Amino acid sequence: MPLLCGRATSDNTRDKMIESEDFIVLHGRESSLVFEKSSGGAPLWRYWGPRLPNGELKLASLESSRPVPSFSPDRNIPLSVFPTFGAGWFNQSGLLASRAGRSFVQDFTACSASADPDNNSLRLTLGDDVAKIRLLLDIELDRATDVLSVGTQLENMGDDPLDVQRLASAVLPLPAHLETVRYYTGRHNKEFVPHQENLASSVWCRENRRGLTSHDSFPGAMVASKRAQNQAGEVYAAQLAWSGNHVQTIEALDDGRRQWHLGEWLAPGELRLSPGATMTAPGVLATFSTRGYDGVAQNFHGAIRKRMTWPRGRMKPRRVHLNTWEAVYFDHDLEALTALADAAAEIGVERFVLDDGWFKNRNDDRAGLGDWEPDIGKYPDGLRPLADFVVEKGMEFGLWVEPEMVNPDSDLYRAHPEWALSITGREPITARNQLVLDLSRHEVADYLFTKIDTLLTTMPISYLKWDHNRDLTLAGGADGRAMYRKQTLAAYKLIDRIRTAHRDVEIEACAGGGGRIDAGIAEYTHRFWTSDNVDPVSRLGIQRGFLQFMPPELMGAHVGASPCHATGRSHSLDFRASVAVCGHLGVELDIQTLDAEENKTLKSWIAFYKRHRERLHKGSVWRGEAGEAIVWQAHGDENHWLLFVYCMEQTSSRFPPALLLPMAKGEADYRVQIIHASNAGDRPPPDARLFEQMRGVGAVFSGSWLRHGGLSLPAMTAESCVIFHGKAQ
Ligand code: GLA
Repeated sequence: MPLLCGRATSDNTRDKMIESEDFIVLHGRESSLVFEKSSGGAPLWRYWGPRLPNGELKLASLESSRPVPSFSPDRNIPLSVFPTFGAGWFNQSGLLASRAGRSFVQDFTACSASADPDNNSLRLTLGDDVAKIRLLLDIELDRATDVLSVGTQLENMGDDPLDVQRLASAVLPLPAHLETVRYYTGRHNKEFVPHQENLASSVWCRENRRGLTSHDSFPGAMVASKRAQNQAGEVYAAQLAWSGNHVQTIEALDDGRRQWHLGEWLAPGELRLSPGATMTAPGVLATFSTRGYDGVAQNFHGAIRKRMTWPRGRMKPRRVHLNTWEAVYFDHDLEALTALADAAAEIGVERFVLDDGWFKNRNDDRAGLGDWEPDIGKYPDGLRPLADFVVEKGMEFGLWVEPEMVNPDSDLYRAHPEWALSITGREPITARNQLVLDLSRHEVADYLFTKIDTLLTTMPISYLKWDHNRDLTLAGGADGRAMYRKQTLAAYKLIDRIRTAHRDVEIEACAGGGGRIDAGIAEYTHRFWTSDNVDPVSRLGIQRGFLQFMPPELMGAHVGASPCHATGRSHSLDFRASVAVCGHLGVELDIQTLDAEENKTLKSWIAFYKRHRERLHKGSVWRGEAGEAIVWQAHGDENHWLLFVYCMEQTSSRFPPALLLPMAKGEADYRVQIIHASNAGDRPPPDARLFEQMRGVGAVFSGSWLRHGGLSLPAMTAESCVIFHGKAQ
């Protein structure tokens, strides 16, 4: 008998999953999901949005409430958790697959759901006995973070190979009233460039075919109403946990809703599942918040933090780095580097990372990749003397590697040209003079493991900066098939193998700066190199984009030289440091070139960072703007926060605008102090009495005033920062 009206009931005292005959409901803190069971077929996506109340939910089933539109199949097919092609669904399909050009239709008709109320999770098993496939969907709504994670596995139950052209990692429903999509593009030295577009009736689509996450297209986005702001309004967000090719589409449906697909982008013929084989698609993290863009960012930060695997199970305070790249580039001289390490230890650096240039024949970027042994010209006794010196000085020693790469001018390539990804008959295409090794070959993975393992075993190395400085081209394997997916999985496997053998080692993910920032590699690594551009003005934009998806403790942020090597612009040391301390701090300049005053200033910023890193790295982040010239960022919790106010340009109004502070609780009073103020130039703007007081004992404000009336700002010059400390009394 057709279902007219369904009920989902539960004991309404607990936030628990509700399963009835007709519906399955999952509640988070701020969001809920509703699935409708569909006689035999895949469950339907009914709802993802604001938290619904506990207890009984009365709603009409779709099956009972939809008239059959004219000139349409008599069987209506609404959006399911995994729509497929060919049996009445005319929109984008989660799966496109065939067997030698046949069996191109899939239709799930044998489906079951099993719920795990303790984990607030659901396993859906979707079977198609005709196409002979099975799809497992694991859906979990994390109560603490409101992040929905989706895992998808496809199994070939047939006797022939299954060619998969497309497999979504997740299909998400979006309500009809959302109008905009916000996403990020970029390039080397300019990561996380924000874009906002109106959603239209055409399909919105972002594809990445560069073989790694890419600077061009972060694998995630936010969909919101036009009214959504930093701290208010409904925002839906999702990101793919994957470091390879990817595709996202958002498509309007017949009922006004939209479907959002995220998944791998597969090259022609790339994925063939042999009989009995199963493949796991990259995971997806998705979240909804009524607290605007910061709300979804905070949810993601929580989810990423939960997924991190730290040595010995917990994050240590993020150590201050000295990275040698912009200090010496390829010009490695043991004596000079030892002096640099000495100077670094003196100002409080805690980890010395020896960047590119240390290995055989690596005097520029034309040779050496693949030959992972110290260059005896530069290091006659190997790296040990330098590493020992660093450790004696109380710092950790870190080393740069780029294992996936090989220079044609290397012993490795001369011995094994066949180890590079290539297509028979086509000239290899170099980028930065290098080619990419086929990591899926056992002999290649073993060679790289042995080389890195030897370095880690024979020297006190506790940190690796793992780079990947080119896109993939002609990425064919020995069998002539596209290797993008296999390469990404093999890279994860190699990192994992190294981590298993060296459990205390932390790893930084880098790819020409921020070309491999994603939640997939975050599970294997501990820090991202956010961008090769350390210009603080550029960084403010880049870091804001990064923080939309990733927490600040993973955000490598260095104080570089002035003028900045990437942009040629000059900035005060104070301004450079005030932008870098918000992330995982490092120094990337030859500190021996600083005069005594600058040295003292840098040392005091390092001390500032150490004093505050706990608050900077463990709480929430809020971001905002005021007027046309001011951007701000706060870290901490509602009782205790640090507020960084950056003035980018002279304000056009005579008085800077007051800042409305969303992190202040209405019912509390806050003592607010200025703990740092740096104005560029030697003519400080006039001060007012209040700020003198705030530089000392501080001033007390009602939380409700800070939220709605706002915090007054002192006069600020262009490219300067004021840092406030606020504590509820
Ligand atoms: C990339 C990284 C830099 C540096 C160089 C070394 O560009 O982003 O930080 O490590 O490689 O070649």
